[in-house]
Amino acid sequence: TERTFSILKPDATKRNLTGAVNAVIEKAGLRIVGQRRIQMSQAQAEKFYEIHKERPFFGELVTFMTSGPVVVQVLEGENAVAKYREVMGATNPAQAAEGTIRKTFSESVGENTVHGSDSADNAKMEIAQFFQDSDIVG
Ligand code: GTP
Ligand code: MG
Repeated sequence: TERTFSILKPDATKRNLTGAVNAVIEKAGLRIVGQRRIQMSQAQAEKFYEIHKERPFFGELVTFMTSGPVVVQVLEGENAVAKYREVMGATNPAQAAEGTIRKTFSESVGENTVHGSDSADNAKMEIAQFFQDSDIVG
């Protein structure tokens, strides 16, 4: 079993979709073993998306991620990293497969409802950025 880090982004909380997205996550067999609603600071968002610092959309991304509350989560299950990427769908919702979270709920490539770690190593680092061990209960 494996863990991955998830964020329900501000477009999700704004539209009151926390429960609807969580239902898709749980239906896919992933267990929500840690969850917290937070307002990301500018510094937190910049650190989290540091790898995208040189990309043209970096400023927009940080502004968006701090524009409202987010829900940070730890998801657990068999192949959780790959499974959650599959459940989320392609970064651009227009290219996302039917039944995925982004196909169902997202309106643009920027406001694409969810984040999921892209590797097990990154998952560990991302989880450590937002959770203490004692706040994850498997
Ligand atoms: P995450 O799970 O959020 O990391 O998405 P991803 O791995 O599918 O995409 P990637 O890591 O390449 O990009 C990170 C995030 O930057 C995306 O989820 C989008 O929110 C945002 N992003 C990517 N491309 C664009 C773009 O062309 N324009 C804007 N505004 N945002 C983008
Ligand atoms: Mg990514």
